[in-house]
Amino acid sequence: MTPAAQLLERIRTTEARIGIIGLGYVGLPLAVEFAKAGFDVTGFDVDESKNTAINAGTSYIPDVPAAELSEVVHAGRLRATSDMSKLGDMDVVDICVPTPLRKTKDPDLSYVVKAVEAAAKVLKRGQLVILESTTYPGTTDEVVQPMLEAGGLKAGEDFLLAFSPERVDPGNAQYTTKQIPKVVGGHGAASTEVAAALYGRVVSSVVPVSSTRVAEMVKLLENTFRAVNIGLVNEIALMSRKMDIDVWEVIDAAKTKPFGFMPFYPGPGLGGHCIPIDPFYLSWKARQSGFECRFIELAGQVNGSMPEHVLQLVSDALNSVKKPINGSRIHLFGIAYKRDVNDMRESPALDVLELLIRRGAVVTYTDPWVPKLADGHHTLRSIDTDTAIADGFDCAVITTDHTAFDYARLGALPLIVDTRNALKGASGPNIHRL
Ligand SMILES: NC(=O)c1ccc[n+]([C@@H]2O[C@H](COP(=O)([O-])OP(=O)(O)OC[C@H]3O[C@@H](n4cnc5c(N)ncnc54)[C@H](O)[C@@H]3O)[C@@H](O)[C@H]2O)c1
Repeated sequence: MTPAAQLLERIRTTEARIGIIGLGYVGLPLAVEFAKAGFDVTGFDVDESKNTAINAGTSYIPDVPAAELSEVVHAGRLRATSDMSKLGDMDVVDICVPTPLRKTKDPDLSYVVKAVEAAAKVLKRGQLVILESTTYPGTTDEVVQPMLEAGGLKAGEDFLLAFSPERVDPGNAQYTTKQIPKVVGGHGAASTEVAAALYGRVVSSVVPVSSTRVAEMVKLLENTFRAVNIGLVNEIALMSRKMDIDVWEVIDAAKTKPFGFMPFYPGPGLGGHCIPIDPFYLSWKARQSGFECRFIELAGQVNGSMPEHVLQLVSDALNSVKKPINGSRIHLFGIAYKRDVNDMRESPALDVLELLIRRGAVVTYTDPWVPKLADGHHTLRSIDTDTAIADGFDCAVITTDHTAFDYARLGALPLIVDTRNALKGASGPNIHRL
């Protein structure tokens, strides 16, 4: 029996032991899905506080219900550790570590490299290594494969290697890990087949593609598509304002077209760990091949200008009541990068906050999902809406449209800037909409 056939059999019989490196927004939901399907799962994270929480059955990811996590932990099917030597006991090693950008907007693969180093140290014949972290096309065969092969084993023969992009959408109750089709590209047909069989045990549908590069590019196309279309609609919003047209009404009417149109919405800027970052992985790699990605750069410029536009809206709103930004008290509703998540990575609200503070505003915020903000520059605590209103402020800004906010109440505030059309239907001199 070939190593691939052996592993296929262990997947079929649910005997395969699965190791997940990186237990964040991507890794933890996946680990729980595998454990729920009956697999023996070990999570590996350098953050001991996460390992401790998981081993106690406590979830720190809103999309992972505490009861589900606790059940698989107490049944002995999921545990977490920082002891990377245990990777050698795994049949599958699935890498879900961060892939941020450096300050220069170049890819920072240091987390992937560290994780692969740990896997390479204990790599054994018959193992399947999968990279799930979003990255540029070529990472799996140019970076990961040589590191794993340094010990003498060959990818596609002695061990299996695949890339499978993670498409999870935190906070989306309709499409969870299980329901989102999984794209899989292996190094050779056997790697694709085994990785596809593995995911086939936990997700509703698997989409095999011809190579790791195609799979890497699929993810970047998806996220670049979003970044560029958000850039387009942000530009349309800026243009509509100059032309005195309500862009939200335009989008609502345009989206009634049953084909050939898909609505995207303007906002205070891009946020999260994917859309503001992933397109730059692609443009960086394309540049190496002598290709300039003009759409990505342009969308980056437009989207990156939106926090400044919000600043202008706040300035205009305050001006309408004869006040300057300097010295005004401004209260932000929402710090998370999108509705109903606790993730504030790259959140445009942080940019808005920074711009306001630099102009001399005194800024406070309410966000039931982000009780404390410590971004390295500022340390603030969320104030509940009652206290914030009782304390008073000169202008409020809806930066994130969490469902928990009472919008009827916010719409009645003396001065409010709405960057999300959360006050849809309401109007008045007090409401300044993006
Ligand atoms: N968050 C999303 O919505 C999302 C969606 C799709 C794809 N992705 C991609 O998935 C990848 C992971 O993102 P995430 O949001 O889960 O990140 P995250 O920061 O939530 O989690 C990553 C985890 O990896 C751990 N880690 C870092 N280096 C490690 C190492 N060497 N060994 C072990 N653990 C290590 C961190 O401690 C952290 O717990 C990224 O490439 C991201 O672009 C994220």
